[in-house]
Amino acid sequence: MDFKKNILVTGGAGFIGSHAVRHFVKKYSAYKIINLDKLTYAGNLENLKDIENSENYVFIRGDITDSELVESIFSEHSIDSVIHLAAESHVDRSIVSPMDFIQTNIIGTFTLLNAAKKFWQTSNHKPQTTNLFYHISTDEVYGSLGATGYFTEETSYDPRSPYSASKAGSDHLVMAYHHTYKLPVVITNCSNNYGPFQFPEKLMPLIIHNIVHQKPLPVYGKGENVRDWLFVQDHVEAMDTVFHKGKEGETYNIGGSNEWKNIDLVRKICSIMDEKLKRAAGSSEKLITFVKDRAGHDLRYAIDSGKIQRELGWKPAHRFEDGIELTIDWYMNNSEWLNHVTSGEYQKYYQEQYVNR
Ligand code: NAD
Ligand code: TYD
Repeated sequence: MDFKKNILVTGGAGFIGSHAVRHFVKKYSAYKIINLDKLTYAGNLENLKDIENSENYVFIRGDITDSELVESIFSEHSIDSVIHLAAESHVDRSIVSPMDFIQTNIIGTFTLLNAAKKFWQTSNHKPQTTNLFYHISTDEVYGSLGATGYFTEETSYDPRSPYSASKAGSDHLVMAYHHTYKLPVVITNCSNNYGPFQFPEKLMPLIIHNIVHQKPLPVYGKGENVRDWLFVQDHVEAMDTVFHKGKEGETYNIGGSNEWKNIDLVRKICSIMDEKLKRAAGSSEKLITFVKDRAGHDLRYAIDSGKIQRELGWKPAHRFEDGIELTIDWYMNNSEWLNHVTSGEYQKYYQEQYVNR
């Protein structure tokens, strides 16, 4: 079957990637989605059970740093667009094992850029459609804000963790390929996402899980750090908008205009869950445990998403009150998913099913 676009999505078995894959597979039956994912601890094919047999979907288990594999995918599937999400994504892990971040986030992005350049810029490549390399990045590349101000697209890069430095490096490579080789690229830098299918090492799913099991709720330092939270489906809608309407060579910031101090957010989750679990008001808060701060912990992130709103007409559709309810309900109703992703057994099963190419 001939598809209108053949889109390589990397990291499509992860948290945001799985929402993006589901969105594009379901909404655009004329697009073929080729999901390339290594299935690290964070990649989870259970996230995509509902669409895994769709006619316009293909899964390939493999590593984005494997240039031979990546190039073979470009030619086998006539890839005309890339939506690049694959990354090592957890700051705490980057402090302990930075090398994985350099490999995947920098070398992996470089490998994909080279393949796109090679495949799209050879004389025998006849594009059926406009080519686009869409790189998904983070607001963390801008560093840390004080009590006031916002990150705009003009804010200088100032990454301060191995994670954000590796993402900054990948952003620079993407723009360098645009300026030097005229590769058609676009980048978005998004704030903290929350929603279903997030690996329970990140703040929200960890807190929800621990409240259910009445385990301590670790809050780093004094809990004064501020994050700007965006519901994952709103990020995916922004991705759809940028993919179709974004201007080549541009960067767009995406955020929720929804800032929370960590301690206030944890207290909010506690109070919603006390009610849902029919526990005495205030009982979950007693589980809050202040622990040693993260090394180099960025104080505040806050995004000015005026550019994407003005120029492309995107804005978040979910109110935080609704998004957080939906998220808490999802984790409470999917304890089996949580058990599977946190047990090595599950991972072994999928890794054996999809032997690396
Ligand atoms: P995630 O950790 O949940 O998923 C990452 C996915 O990439 C996993 O499926 C993993 O198996 C895959 N992967 C890792 N290394 C790979 C490799 N070498 N080759 C192929 N696949 C590999 O991450 P996420 O939270 O879904 O984030 C996705 C992207 O969005 C990342 O690029 C991240 O930097 C960016 N981002 C995330 C957030 C957030 O709040 N989670 C916010 C802004 C931007
Ligand atoms: P996280 O979900 O790891 O995202 P990021 O570091 O990319 O912002 O953390 C969100 C915030 O919550 C961050 O300020 C660190 C803090 N945090 C805790 O206080 N306790 C925890 O157990 C975790 C995982 C995070």
